[in-house]
Amino acid sequence: MPTSTLINPSNHLLPNLGFRLTNPTGNFHQPSWLLHFPPFLLLLLLLLLLLLLLLLLLLLLLPYSFFSSSVSSPLLDHLQSELITFHEFSKFRNEKEHRLWSDVEGSLALLSAIIPRPVQEELLKFKDAKHDALNLKTFSVDKIGGLTGVELSAGLHWYLKYWCGAHISWDKTGGAQLSSVPKPGFLPRVQAAGVLIQRPVPWNYYQNAVTSSYTFAWWDWERWEKEIDWMALHGINLPLAFTGQEAVWQKVFQIFNISSSELSGFFGGPAFLAWSRMANLHGWGGPLPQSWLDQQLILQKKILARMYELGMTPVLPAFSGNVPAALKSIFPSAKITRLGNWFTIGGDPRWCCTYLLDATDPLFIEIGKTFIEQQLKEYGRSGHIYNCDTFDENTPPVDDPDYISSLGAAIYKGIQGGDADAIWLMQGWLFSYDPFWRPSQMKALLHSVPIGKLVVLDLFAEVKPIWISSEQFYGVPYIWKVVVPFLSCEFLVTCMLHNFAGNIEMYGVLDAIASGPVEARTSENSTMASFFNFNLFLEVGVGMSMEGIEQNPVVYDLMSEMAFQHKKLDLEMWIDLYPRRRYGRSNPSIQDAWNILYRTVYNCTDGAYDKNRDVIVSFPDVDPSFISEEEMFTREKPQILTEQVSRRASLKKMKSSFDQPRLWYSTADVIHALELLLASGDKLSKIQTYSYDIIDLTRQALAKYANQVFFKVIKAYKLNNIQGVAFYSQHFLDLVGDMDTLLACHHGFLLGPWLESSKKLAQDLEQEKQFEWNARTQITMWFDNTEEEASLLRDYGNKYWSGLLRDYYGPRAAIYFKYLLHSLEKGDRFLLNDWRTEWIKLTNDWQNSRNVFPVKSTGDALNTSRWLFNKYLRNPEIYDI
Ligand SMILES: *[C@@H]1O[C@H](CO)[C@@H](O)[C@H](O)[C@H]1NC(C)=O
Ligand SMILES: *[C@@H]1O[C@H](CO)[C@@H](O)[C@H](O)[C@H]1NC(C)=O
Ligand SMILES: *[C@@H]1O[C@H](CO)[C@@H](O)[C@H](O)[C@H]1NC(C)=O
Ligand SMILES: *[C@@H]1O[C@H](CO)[C@@H](O)[C@H](O)[C@H]1NC(C)=O
Repeated sequence: MPTSTLINPSNHLLPNLGFRLTNPTGNFHQPSWLLHFPPFLLLLLLLLLLLLLLLLLLLLLLPYSFFSSSVSSPLLDHLQSELITFHEFSKFRNEKEHRLWSDVEGSLALLSAIIPRPVQEELLKFKDAKHDALNLKTFSVDKIGGLTGVELSAGLHWYLKYWCGAHISWDKTGGAQLSSVPKPGFLPRVQAAGVLIQRPVPWNYYQNAVTSSYTFAWWDWERWEKEIDWMALHGINLPLAFTGQEAVWQKVFQIFNISSSELSGFFGGPAFLAWSRMANLHGWGGPLPQSWLDQQLILQKKILARMYELGMTPVLPAFSGNVPAALKSIFPSAKITRLGNWFTIGGDPRWCCTYLLDATDPLFIEIGKTFIEQQLKEYGRSGHIYNCDTFDENTPPVDDPDYISSLGAAIYKGIQGGDADAIWLMQGWLFSYDPFWRPSQMKALLHSVPIGKLVVLDLFAEVKPIWISSEQFYGVPYIWKVVVPFLSCEFLVTCMLHNFAGNIEMYGVLDAIASGPVEARTSENSTMASFFNFNLFLEVGVGMSMEGIEQNPVVYDLMSEMAFQHKKLDLEMWIDLYPRRRYGRSNPSIQDAWNILYRTVYNCTDGAYDKNRDVIVSFPDVDPSFISEEEMFTREKPQILTEQVSRRASLKKMKSSFDQPRLWYSTADVIHALELLLASGDKLSKIQTYSYDIIDLTRQALAKYANQVFFKVIKAYKLNNIQGVAFYSQHFLDLVGDMDTLLACHHGFLLGPWLESSKKLAQDLEQEKQFEWNARTQITMWFDNTEEEASLLRDYGNKYWSGLLRDYYGPRAAIYFKYLLHSLEKGDRFLLNDWRTEWIKLTNDWQNSRNVFPVKSTGDALNTSRWLFNKYLRNPEIYDI
């Protein structure tokens, strides 16, 4: 039976909604009557349930098998039946879009980097593609059916995950665990009838406007190919595609008579493009060489082609009003304002205070339209979805709803001028955090765009979802109903933000991830969500909007799965299976360890956002008298985001006070989890996923321990205890050095690759220096510090990377300790300005230096983790003096 029986394409021009698995070793084809015969399904489910009960009984009776590397466990079987859902396809508003599926076979072959060729061949044997009435090409393979490459890949991943006990993560987080996948010819069978997995919502969104800089800044095509494979396997069909847009802007502004040289102060440097695109800054880290612009455009074309091949809908950028200064002199009557200072020290106009063209100016629509047209010209096609976030950093000057409405209309008109079928995708920060957006303003904006042409991303839904936040708005939910009687639906995509600035921290809210997307779409009758869900927003997708990737693989494994889940997940069960999939084998103490992690580091429910402020990576730039124990170790000090969560707001407070490190769990529990994980290490030490996890967990435990050691230094200082200060500061510095040694044991925690990949994109020595400086600056301190004043954007993109600890974080801490001792020895106050001058100089020197760091790991992860566990964590009191 061809896959076209699964989906009637004429009804589903929105993305392809799911995949089908049939027997990998037989030739069974799913009979179509099955789909139209729900009573049979019920019976089947009942039978399954009975079976399940039996299996559970068996499980209870059987002694627990130690180290089972076999994947056919009762637990797995149970999970399989839990996870398989049979649902009617939901119907969504159709877009007039005819997707031209190209041949995915060639694209999928690239998965062989991740999945061995023979396994692929057995599972994905392509038959002739069929053409249906709508000229859509559907794909039919023997074992896994789906309409696009994304659906096929997601089906393959699902099969590997739930039939073969496999796990797929980024290379840097341990890569794929496929040792549990049986040899071709012996692959596990799925239920005789086959299995149909359908998406509850059509879209699965991926990325954040800043991921392009925090993570992708230096990627070449080879790395992009792997990432697009990763996206396909994880079912992502709505990724941002922001690469290379500067080259397009160059052509657009040329049409408006702005020369390339006039743009050199407009674009940011290669590591800062995300922020120059958002009008936060301009020129910083630049100018961009022409070779960079050209090279990135070529890269973007490859990225787009691959995304289309796989059936993804890449989201292209749209004009938000951000213009070069030169536009003002060419169009003197244009309404151009200057944005305020975004964290620069002296407000240097070379990078401060970018120009914004008012959306009500006719030129706005002109430029907006030209930008879309130019992209279509370059790329030859479009998925018709465009991102524009003009209000995020720029609250409108007037709150008159008519004015708001005219702004929204102008933005959309510009986009639509270039693409008649355009849909505007925007971030929903502003609705939940900026008090400017009261119901009437919100209504005005949402209504300024034709119905169905606006999609709102609920970016931070795992912590503060829009759909549930009526009470957060003004504490009077009923007002909403009075003020806004009825609105027709707008589309909402529920996203998990999870990570800020690519910081490395074990963090997550697994419970919220496993239930949030489901609640968002099923709670239409609950009083809390009724307004948003029922009247205003219709959830059409889920997504991941992290600022940086390649961290916390468990969180992304779970979240990507939620795109296919119709019900809340039984997370206890899921977590029990996780280490077995991740390492290819497990045992009770590993499972216990993961259960602890699930309840501690991965259950951050205090509503705070995760911005890593550990002392090592974000050293306090304050007088020691500002630092107190109560503040450092209170668990109830979340930085709840009550204001507008723009980068502007979240960084506002960094200047005068020092941002406390966060702790939302019991460190003793986490250390115990580490002990359990290390105890099982002898059989797992060669497994990359395991190495990554023990290093990450040891790092996590040591980082929090370092915060405590730092406080001991301060406490000794306050007691005028010179020996104490000397002892604990040395202890702290030893720890930093040891952590560097630990991180060196896995290539996912190295500074070297970040720096080397930046240099690889350079065409000459000058570019090489510029790119390396960009790379070093982004992760340490941006912007124009003075000799005695650090930029507020220091340590925002901090990283626990080997090389950075030994070469930068350690020496920086040493300077502080030196001045503490100096103060005690001299009986004088702490020389704050001297410390500042010295560490700022260290930073600037470090940014300009060219020393080379390894790109390959050295050292044994298990040995090193055990050594450091014994040295610091087993009995921390031995260091009390
Ligand atoms: C650019 O300059 C040329 C020559 O001065 C002029 O004809 C053209 O209208 C200008 N383009 C725009 C968009 O103003
Ligand atoms: C939910 O709302 C719908 C529409 O108002 C109504 O028909 C239905 O009975 C409600 N369900 C529950 C459980 O309240
Ligand atoms: C996570 O924390 C919340 C709030 O403290 C608690 O209610 C919940 O049971 C915890 N979840 C787990 C899995 O421990
Ligand atoms: C780990 O340490 C043990 C003993 O401490 C040693 O025998 C072994 O060779 C080490 N393994 C590696 C890979 O370094």
